[in-house]
Amino acid sequence: MKQEKDAARHALPRYQQIARQLTQAILSGELLPGSRLPSSRTMALEMGVARATIENAYGDLAAQGWLERRGQAGTFVSQTLSPAQPAFTTSAPPAGNREPLPFQMGLPALDAFPRALWSRLMGRRLRLQTRFDLAAPPCEGEAVLRQAIVDYLRFSRSIDCQPEQVFITAGYSMAMTLALRALAQPGEGILLEDPGFPFIRPVLAQAGLRFCPVAVDSEGMDIRQGNQRYPDARFALITPAHQSPLGVALSLPRRRELLDWAALNDRWVIEDDYDSEFRYHGKPLPPVKSLDAPQRVIYAGTFSKSLFPALRTAWLVAPPQCVAAFRQVAQHLPCTVPPLYQHTIADFIREGHFWRHLKKMRHCYGQRRQWLESALAEQGFAVTPQQGGIQLVVPVTGNDSEMASKAVKAGLAVQAISDWRMAHKGESGLLMSFTNIVSPEQARKQARALREALK
Ligand SMILES: Cc1ncc(COP(=O)(O)O)c(C=O)c1O
Repeated sequence: MKQEKDAARHALPRYQQIARQLTQAILSGELLPGSRLPSSRTMALEMGVARATIENAYGDLAAQGWLERRGQAGTFVSQTLSPAQPAFTTSAPPAGNREPLPFQMGLPALDAFPRALWSRLMGRRLRLQTRFDLAAPPCEGEAVLRQAIVDYLRFSRSIDCQPEQVFITAGYSMAMTLALRALAQPGEGILLEDPGFPFIRPVLAQAGLRFCPVAVDSEGMDIRQGNQRYPDARFALITPAHQSPLGVALSLPRRRELLDWAALNDRWVIEDDYDSEFRYHGKPLPPVKSLDAPQRVIYAGTFSKSLFPALRTAWLVAPPQCVAAFRQVAQHLPCTVPPLYQHTIADFIREGHFWRHLKKMRHCYGQRRQWLESALAEQGFAVTPQQGGIQLVVPVTGNDSEMASKAVKAGLAVQAISDWRMAHKGESGLLMSFTNIVSPEQARKQARALREALK
């Protein structure tokens, strides 16, 4: 019965197969952003299919944001979904120099990490190694780190799980690859926050998933709208703590709706809890995973924000009924984080340094955020109030993509909300981080540079 179901899932309708070929061509760079596709009539003749099949494929890809249909002018590859997004690529520091650019997002405060302590812990681990540590480590990650994560999740995130459920991976993309190889079939739909984190989309497309963009409002992703529009979607990927990029928390009623949604029809929620530790006011809502009685939530965490991104260490908590499937995939996709690093992280957590560091960082980020908010206010920019997270949103009027490009040209790594959108239009805004601003003077200098760049 299950095999039949799987086979039925594999047999994608022709228009979805064509849509998939097109997304692969976009991802591989064969079809460049902005390029014009043949008309549906020409394409249908070339491929030997009905014109309606091509129309369906184009229509689906336009709804997902891969393509733009510009009436008489034709159908074009969208600028916003391509991995070669200009505003993103040009805002990275030049090769070899990893000093953060002003406002650069996705980075914790690099100056505030206790590097001396870290090297002491790592040196101690190195000295304690025996010849057995030279052997290949377990594919699902070191037991000592998985146990430390279980303890941390219980204490800090009210999540009750066992070490067998935890899979260490080399970053979030690998975690998603692992989860999707274990659970997803090509052609299945995934509800995605719109706007949402663009850098995971190539991984979802590689798994053959159909993008189902759902609008985000002040309560987070609109689950009911998602369910109405895409009743057959099988996954929902969400950032409930601080929606990426808008920073709103998924409300409690929406969390319940999400869990009810998942409890039906063999569906899965993937909770990306990437920066929930950084909350400055009020009590954080518990993660969706902590309310997950039916065990339909796959929880994804990372050390990229709470420690540092060069660790390339993230993890997944698999529901108990999926552990065997995840382990099977992990055997062919083993954890590549070196054991020395995994042991050092485990020591860092078990010896209490992690909690001390997080406490220090909450204070540090609260202060840096305040510096930047005040400096931006002096330049006439407002900041959307937010309870947590490590980036902020500056609402603007006009074309935010053009503004972000101007800022990028001036060496400022701000991004536009529009560039994170797929199908839903909405307010314009600039996204920026404050984590590496080390003084009020530096905040003022950067805010002035932004005002100057946008003139
Ligand atoms: C929304 C979101 N999820 C997850 C991650 C973590 O990614 P990684 O663990 O690969 O650094 C990030 C990092 O920037 C992020 O912004």
